[in-house]
Amino acid sequence: MTHDTFLARLEGTARDIESLLGDLLSPAQLDGEIARPALLLDAMRYAMLGGGKRLRPHLVVEAARLFGSEGVGPLRAGAAVECIHGYSLVHDDLPAMDDDALRRGKPTVHKAYDEATAILAGDALQTLAFDILADEATDPDPAIRIQLTLALARSSGLGGMVGGQMLDLEAEGRFTAEGKPIPGDETSTLRLQAMKTGAILASSVQMGSILGRASEADRQALAVYGRALGQAFQIADDLLDAEGEAATVGKATGKDAAKGKSTLVSLLGASNARLRLASLVDEAERALSPFGERADVLRQTARFVAERRN
Ligand code: IPE
Ligand code: IPE
Ligand code: MG
Ligand code: MG
Ligand code: MG
Repeated sequence: MTHDTFLARLEGTARDIESLLGDLLSPAQLDGEIARPALLLDAMRYAMLGGGKRLRPHLVVEAARLFGSEGVGPLRAGAAVECIHGYSLVHDDLPAMDDDALRRGKPTVHKAYDEATAILAGDALQTLAFDILADEATDPDPAIRIQLTLALARSSGLGGMVGGQMLDLEAEGRFTAEGKPIPGDETSTLRLQAMKTGAILASSVQMGSILGRASEADRQALAVYGRALGQAFQIADDLLDAEGEAATVGKATGKDAAKGKSTLVSLLGASNARLRLASLVDEAERALSPFGERADVLRQTARFVAERRN
């Protein structure tokens, strides 16, 4: 598969997700809802539409495709993960957290609206994610819907993304008397990154294998891929923060060092972090060997994660 074909696949899923999210976030209320307040809906649409790489939906869709599952089910599961991701970004940018003004190349939700609306938009995106998964349009088999729900809940809550965000905040803001950031140790930094970012990327892959009714052995192979990819992803994010330009990255850069965040870049330096990134991409690719050429898209995804510029 050429790089262009890969990019076309990624963009195709991004377009499908954009359109599905537009429908899910329409003013038409669902059975059982009382009303959809216009301002809140507007803020949710602002957070979710017109930006983002849609990498997590792409992982759900491509992992499911590996086992012959295609169509609306994987797309809906991808949209659910993207809602959790979008909510995590809206809250991550709040003044109480990373205090950022730019996201996906435009003002953050609390800048475009206000803090209370941003908090509520994040809250409602989180419940929307589980609404999507629980709906039978995602999969006719309730047992599959429960497995998807559990995978997403486990990876996004206390022991996953939210827990990782807590550890991330706890580890920041330690400086020497000369004002140099003091990073945490490597083991705790790897753990906080596996939680705040890795867990949801890994569960995206896992959700694809659930939809595809993959065998236990295949699920395990993909889980190794998902974990390596997740770790690689956050190192790339930290390198972009250290070395990228806000105009390309779509968010402010240089903030991790300013806040004394504990990252592999602060811990190992940029060039060692880059070596670590390359070996994680190798590890992710090796984990796909049982699938042969069928897993080419996922192989290219691992490289894309490492080489991305935004
Ligand atoms: C950024 O995620 C936040 C992290 C988890 C590090 P992405 O780089 O996937 O952000 P979008 O969705 O493309 O904007
Ligand atoms: C955020 O990590 C991860 C989540 C939103 C869960 P970062 O704080 O590094 O993400 P960016 O750099 O703001 O996108
Ligand atoms: Mg953060
Ligand atoms: Mg942030
Ligand atoms: Mg970052």
